[in-house]
Amino acid sequence: MKQTKITKIVAQEILDSRGNPTIETTIWAGAISGSASVPSGASTGTHEAVELRDGDKRRYLGLGVRKACKNVTGTIFHAVKGMDCRDQQKIDQAMLALDGTINKSKLGANAILSVSLAAMRLSAEMQQKPLYKTIAQHYNYKPRALPVPLFNVINGGVHADSGLDIQEYFLIPQRGTFAERLRQGSEVYHTLKKILASDGYSVGLGDEGGFAPHLGANEQALKYLSRAIKQAGYKVKTDFRLGIDAAASEFFNSEREVYKMKASRLNYKPASIYKLYQKWVKDYGLQIIEDGCAEEDFLGWQLLTKHLGKQTLLVGDDLFVTDTARIQNGVINGIANAALIKVNQIGTLTETIAAIKMAQSNNYEIVISHRSGETTDSFIADLAVAVNAKYIKAGAPARGERLAKYNRLVEIEQNL
Ligand code: PGA
Ligand code: ZN
Repeated sequence: MKQTKITKIVAQEILDSRGNPTIETTIWAGAISGSASVPSGASTGTHEAVELRDGDKRRYLGLGVRKACKNVTGTIFHAVKGMDCRDQQKIDQAMLALDGTINKSKLGANAILSVSLAAMRLSAEMQQKPLYKTIAQHYNYKPRALPVPLFNVINGGVHADSGLDIQEYFLIPQRGTFAERLRQGSEVYHTLKKILASDGYSVGLGDEGGFAPHLGANEQALKYLSRAIKQAGYKVKTDFRLGIDAAASEFFNSEREVYKMKASRLNYKPASIYKLYQKWVKDYGLQIIEDGCAEEDFLGWQLLTKHLGKQTLLVGDDLFVTDTARIQNGVINGIANAALIKVNQIGTLTETIAAIKMAQSNNYEIVISHRSGETTDSFIADLAVAVNAKYIKAGAPARGERLAKYNRLVEIEQNL
């Protein structure tokens, strides 16, 4: 008989793709172990679970995570020691009870998530099964297909100094296997680089591996993507469609109730912002708009959904923060038609799956997402396959921490 009870936990401070500290946790049951590391966002929603940082300015400008590591190896280990590593709900529940806050501010969502994900990895190791199969079986899913990648190839907002208000511009390959879509995305990415460089723009990268050119107007980025698609030998709208993550909470002034778009020097009210997107849907065939409105702008969201919800995927990120109750609230109020899923927004795998099931049972599409600050952990690739997510968003088809996810999906495709 294998030892399945948790016997040891180690947590350490490592660095994420922005060079900021984050946690990596390893859990043992006897001689078998599972590890996971935690990502970190920059354009975080107000209602996200709390990332515990040391605040000690003498180390990492206050961003150290030693307290969170200590919570893992101290309080949390104490509570989960001896539990069966395959009993994910029980482990997550124990941590929730121990934390006791609504936003995980006591132990830190980073501490809790590292244990939650590492426990599932350990469970997969224990059963000698791929992670996606272990997750799927545990939560009663039958993986059917690979998710469609959303390649974020132009970065703006708080992810780059491009001056663009829109945070992300995605390429969405429409046809082929996952591996073929990765190739197509890569070809357009490199073509885009050539075009930008020949037009005299910088081809330096933003946080998610996309280019960060000072284009002057938000719409310019959509024009460049369309050009790059054609120049790479593909057809706009049939081979590739486009998407954006406006991350509109970042440019919404909630006191004045106005969206201030600096790059285009235009202001929009909650009652009219949908018209801007309506134009882009018409002119560029946008397939996906994430966070088109700010997290607290319910009027804007309702109008956006009413006018564009039939033909466009309207994804709630800051709006829903992977929270079951918030997604349910969206369903009831006719807001958005898809949910972005980020494991560290909520902090445990059990709650993440509950949020996914809430969305799916109401016919809201799922987009599994990375964060702008990432590690080479590819957990979300397996998660996306396990729950039959229609889409995955993991940045540009470049940089190790982004490719860890895409390359893992290529590997899973071989086996599925
Ligand atoms: P974040 O950005 O990880 O910085 O929050 C990603 C997103 O907004 O989707
Ligand atoms: Zn977003």
